[in-house]
Order: sequence, then C-alpha cells, then structure tokens
Amino acid sequence: MIYLNGQYMPIEEACIPVLDRGFIFGDGVYEVIPVYSRKPFRLTEHLDRLQHSLDGIRLKNPFSHVEWRNLLEQIIAKNEGDDQYIYLHITRGVAKRDHAFPQVPPTIFIMSNPLLPPPAELLVSGASAITANDNRWIRCDVKAISLLPNVLLRQMAVDVQAIETILIRDGFLTEGAASNIFIVKDKVLLAPPKSHLMLPGITYDVVLELAAANQIPHEVREISETEVRTADEILLTSSTKEIMPITRLDGKPVDQGEPGNMFAQLHTLYQQYKETHMRGNFPDTTGL
Ligand code: PDD
Repeated sequence: MIYLNGQYMPIEEACIPVLDRGFIFGDGVYEVIPVYSRKPFRLTEHLDRLQHSLDGIRLKNPFSHVEWRNLLEQIIAKNEGDDQYIYLHITRGVAKRDHAFPQVPPTIFIMSNPLLPPPAELLVSGASAITANDNRWIRCDVKAISLLPNVLLRQMAVDVQAIETILIRDGFLTEGAASNIFIVKDKVLLAPPKSHLMLPGITYDVVLELAAANQIPHEVREISETEVRTADEILLTSSTKEIMPITRLDGKPVDQGEPGNMFAQLHTLYQQYKETHMRGNFPDTTGL
C-alpha cells in the first residue's frame, strides 16, 4: 500500500499526471528511511534533512514532523514485514510545462518496501567498487529526485560487477553514487567533511557518533584520491546497505583484499545500536 496525495492505495492503482514536474523536470526531493521492528530509524534526522532539501529547492514542507511521523506510521502498518524502507518523494506538483514555479499543490508520494540486510557473503568477503570523476551538480547536499548523473555513475559499477562507484572531485573523495564513503589509514577512521559536494548521510552520522562514543580514532577532513587508493580499508554506508567493506577498488585489492578490523568493529557497534533502537530505548532528542 502506498500513499499518494492524501490517499492510501495499492501501488498498481497509483497514477500521476504526465505534467507532474517530477516527471517533466525532475523537480522534487526525496528521502529513504529505514524501518527496523516497525520503527523508523533516526526519523528526526531524516525529516530534518528533508527540510534542508525542500529549502534547497524552495518548496514549502507540506507537513510538520509530527504529521510526517503519523503518515509514516500508517504506511508501516499497512505494509508487510517488520523491517522496511520507506521511500518518500515530494515534487512541485502538476502544471503546464514552464520552468518557472507554478502555484499548485505539491505531489506527495510514499511507499515502503522490505528492507533486506546486505548479503552475508559480501560482509565476509567484501565488495568491489570502481572510481570515477564526480560530474554531478554542486548541490549534492540536496536529496534531489533528479538523479541522472548518479544513475549513470552507478551503472558504470554495475557494468563491471562492482557494487558502487566512488566519486572523486578535483582530486578529493566526495562520496559514492548512492552512498557515503569512509577510509581507514593507520587505524584512524577518516571521513570527508560535509559540504555542498556530498549528501549528509544519516548512516554517516551514526558511524561517526559510534566512533566517538567508543574511543575509535577518527578524523573528519579532506581525503585525497591517493589516500583512497592506498587506504588500509574502505567502508561504504547508506540507509539500505548499512555499513559494508569495499575490498577491491578498480580491480585491485584494498590492502590485503579482506574486510579489516575497523569494519568488524563498526559493523558490530552498528548492529548493537540498531538493537537499542528496536527495543525502543532509542534516544529521540526531539521528543517526537
Ligand atoms: N541513498 N550519498 C548519496 C548520493 C546517496 O544517495 C545516499 C543514500 C547516501 C547515504 O545516505 P544515508 O545514509 O542517509 O542513506 C549518500 C539512498 C539510500 C537511495 O538513494 O536509495
């Protein structure tokens, strides 16, 4: 069951007009929110990032955080599976094709799908990634639905049986085509700083919080392409993939070509953190 503009319906019945600006211009933003044990994970943070994306495209938020939470609870209840991922999408609405903003209501679409953990063998052996020049626009902090560069970049990885394309802009690591990227050097976890050149990942924040809370040496700073290529470990994070080890880069092994100790430690901490969340002890700072 999906939500479209105030109504719940089976996805097969959901239709939008061809003049929707999401279809015509890619004029909209989205969020992907993991749900564990039927509880949205880091909801406040996801809704804050949604607000940032809406502000970035000058579109008014149709709902308050509390209204969003109520809507998402409905969607979770109407779909099967305790672990789901919610895809939430807002466009500037339906209007005669003209680049200038129309005065029309937005299109609001929410769906939920089963959330499957990454395959166990990928956590044991690690996954392959490739690198490419980051040729996206310079508002990558906005989670825009217009994802054509990301789609093309990610397909380059799929074409060579890799799982992700790691992006380099002006000699420095930005992120993956659909994920954030960390590296490890000399037992220090390194993360590129948030900027307009990358999506501020919710999983990225969790990983840095876990590192800080567990005395894991870490540093947030620019990471050069050379550092990526000579890293001891490369880690990928996203809401749907959680945390994954990258053990081959551009066809060459990363260090010994096996998941390292930093991955093992952070993966365990991440699973423990999820457990805390699922037991309902999750510290939700806004009191939503
Ligand atoms: N993508 N960077 C990009 C470009 C992304 O598309 C994503 C996630 C991330 C990771 O952010 P988070 O940890 O908040 O999921 C970073 C989602 C999963 C997607 O588009 O399906």
